[in-house]
Amino acid sequence: MAIKFDTRYPSIDDLRTRAQKKIPKFAFEYLDGGCNEDVNLIRNTSELRDVQLKPNYLRAHHGSTLKTKLFGVEYDAPFGIAPVGLQGLMWPNAPEILAKAAFEHNIPFILSTVTTTSIERASELTEGKAWFQLYHPTENSLRDDILKRAEAAECPVLVILCDVPTFGFRPRDIRNGLAMPPKMNISNILQAFGRPDWALQTLKYGQPNFATLKPYMPKGLDLKQLGKFMDQTFSGRLNEEKIKPIRDMWKGKLVLKGVASEYDAEEAIRLGIDGIIVSNHGGRQLDAGESTIKPLTTIAEKYGDQIEVMMDSGIRSGPDVARAMASGAKFTFMGRSFMYGVSALGKKGGDHTISLLKTELQQVMEQLCCEKTTDFPYHLVR
Ligand SMILES: Cc1cc2nc3c(=O)[nH]c(=O)nc-3n(C[C@H](O)[C@H](O)[C@H](O)COP(=O)(O)O)c2cc1C
Repeated sequence: MAIKFDTRYPSIDDLRTRAQKKIPKFAFEYLDGGCNEDVNLIRNTSELRDVQLKPNYLRAHHGSTLKTKLFGVEYDAPFGIAPVGLQGLMWPNAPEILAKAAFEHNIPFILSTVTTTSIERASELTEGKAWFQLYHPTENSLRDDILKRAEAAECPVLVILCDVPTFGFRPRDIRNGLAMPPKMNISNILQAFGRPDWALQTLKYGQPNFATLKPYMPKGLDLKQLGKFMDQTFSGRLNEEKIKPIRDMWKGKLVLKGVASEYDAEEAIRLGIDGIIVSNHGGRQLDAGESTIKPLTTIAEKYGDQIEVMMDSGIRSGPDVARAMASGAKFTFMGRSFMYGVSALGKKGGDHTISLLKTELQQVMEQLCCEKTTDFPYHLVR
């Protein structure tokens, strides 16, 4: 096994522990938390880990490859980086670090509408390979403008989101003043002083801002006005009326993220969407919802031959990726795992986390005698 990562942090849990020591509490809690009582957050990983795989040790084995095709592109691994908002709050420059690492490792990077690097910059860093996740604007003119920018930046895949019809109820963020509108209270400022590396990097790169949205924001908004601007500018609830014009305009691949029911999977197929990410937003929206592995199994079985079925939420290791793929996902994504990596290790965090996950997954495949990632379902204990 070739180890190409910092051996002090051989698991995502190690990165999480280190991240907690490196960044202020309000930023860590924003990243780490789920919603309400964190039931869905915890179930995502624990129920995924109930999935078991069986090996075939005596089968002829000619080597295992992580290479996986999705939308006609061959990626070097069957996992990518999920869109995360406000990344620069957790580690300055985080989206740039991750976009570059994803490009170098040939895996997908999805840029969020509300993160701290622009569509154009992400495209530059990935030579036009970055995907873009659109929060749905209230005004059609804004939607059209953002889509034109994504097209001009050669973005190959547009991701639209159906699981944020309301803001999740997140007690820690409310306590920390990170709900909309965010506020920098005394306690948050003191926490920042206790994290000198983070504070220095933040001084170097400046206060994080919504880089893609900057051209549309009135200058000199204070934080209270910023919350109002975001509320007025985006309406999270997606429906047929909003999806149809996007499908008509967008020539690239279109993905619906946040699918957690057969109903929504069927609607996606009917509306001509190319792929779905079965996801519950990492347990940040519906605490009483199912863990993603449950709807994934049924959706992949029923609709996997009509639409590309992908999954995120709860994945924290190579074996977890294998479990998701054995249960029917064609591809997987992770949000927190990569952000723990960057928050823990700064500019080395993207490369480290991807290398770690690749190594773990390679070991699982070789152990199972699984040669291709499309063969994982044969190893599922049913
Ligand atoms: C701090 C944080 C911010 C997020 N922001 C966004 C976002 O702006 N857009 C989006 O589509 N999903 C967002 N997500 C959800 C992720 O894309 C992804 O679905 C989730 O992180 C997967 O779960 P995992 O963190 O357990 O891997 C966010 C998740 C986290 C943890």
